[in-house]
Amino acid sequence: MRFRTVKGTHDILPEEALRWRHVEEEIRRILELSGFAEIRTPILEQLELIARGVGQTTDIVTKEMFALERGEDRLVLRPEMTAPVMRAYLQHGLYTQGAVMKLYYIGPMFRAERPQRGRLRQFHQYGAEILGSSDPLADAEAIALQMGILEHFGLRQLRLRINSLGDATCRPRYREALQAYFRPLAERLSPSSRERLEKNPLRILDSKDPQDQELLAGAPRITDFLTEACREHFEQVKTYLEELGIPYEEDPFLVRGLDYYMHTAFEITSPLLGAQDALGGGGRYDGLAEELGGRPTPGVGFAGGLERLLIALETAGYRFPEPARPDLYIAALGPEARRWAFVHANRWRRRFSLQVEYDLAGRSLRSQLREADRIRARFVLILGEEELSRGRAPLKALDSGEQTLLSLDALPDTLIARIRRAESERSPTPSS
Ligand code: HAM
Repeated sequence: MRFRTVKGTHDILPEEALRWRHVEEEIRRILELSGFAEIRTPILEQLELIARGVGQTTDIVTKEMFALERGEDRLVLRPEMTAPVMRAYLQHGLYTQGAVMKLYYIGPMFRAERPQRGRLRQFHQYGAEILGSSDPLADAEAIALQMGILEHFGLRQLRLRINSLGDATCRPRYREALQAYFRPLAERLSPSSRERLEKNPLRILDSKDPQDQELLAGAPRITDFLTEACREHFEQVKTYLEELGIPYEEDPFLVRGLDYYMHTAFEITSPLLGAQDALGGGGRYDGLAEELGGRPTPGVGFAGGLERLLIALETAGYRFPEPARPDLYIAALGPEARRWAFVHANRWRRRFSLQVEYDLAGRSLRSQLREADRIRARFVLILGEEELSRGRAPLKALDSGEQTLLSLDALPDTLIARIRRAESERSPTPSS
């Protein structure tokens, strides 16, 4: 077959999809418990929104966009959700619904990065945004929420790094100081950092190049350039984290790859991952709404990668729930019995919500029984033409091997009663 998944994308096959569903459902539950409501925005956005929102000089915008043209429109497959969520908030005037809006999302994002383990071109994020609050409590809430999600799955040894990127007053001053420090050293910088020196010098702080890192050791730190108000904001965020007992490390060189951040930026990494070790990150983006031409709206949020979370959970030996077991497998032989199976499987699914399966391929009784075993059906009904004409057939419980001859008319009632009994034996309700 000549067709394969596109580079950097992957299929989520049924067994894996169950794990995805479990993780997504848990994340939804935790976020909804904290009062976040789901938002779903289109995968296609205007290129201009992303370029302005994420930043013209970021890697995401200059190198990694899946862009397409359609007539006059210049579109992209969204690389992230913060700019689209802010667009939706402004477009629909969601600010009229209350002072603070808490929104979450789960879905696919697209970045044309060089694929490797934990780094894809179509990947999935869960994330949350708190819009309308400039209070440092909201920053702490976002960080605590993301830590809480990861800890809920039993992940330990998480490393939370935080930094303050200042605001429109401190950032330009820091930028200049950084340029003044690096300009005389430009020759020794890696080519990509040299390129960033004039356009986006803060990104040099993010360089993984060993030579750059050496030079970084003596570089000025943003924390020394914060205004009193910015410093106070950062101090409060840290105090709130301490109140919840969330350990963090201050990293004055943490900048993150998106330009909209102001004040708090953070990232959470795990030793369970390889080179791509960020499970998630986020921060505050108070200037974004105005950058998009909207009314001033402070915001803070985070996003985490679902692929990376799943890799970490698998590495940690997380126990995912087992797939649901079919209640009944009807092993039917002969045209009449097969027709009966078809009719009754459909009827009982609809009427009693029983998960009933039967063979769709006309296989032998032996392979039908093997199939019932493989899918771990609770019960198998063995039905030939003779059983059908007598109106009685053997029902076998696959766990115990116990077999009883049952009237076909009474089957759903008997089955439901036995399933209920088995369930209550498995999880006995405490008697009062
Ligand atoms: P980000 O750090 O670019 O932030 O992405 C968040 C997370 O998405 C990363 O930590 C990582 O787990 C996952 N991720 C990113 N790129 C890839 C990829 N190519 N393959 C697999 N996983 C990936 C944002 O996107 C911001 N919108 C977060 C935010 C929300 N800030 C404020 N609010």
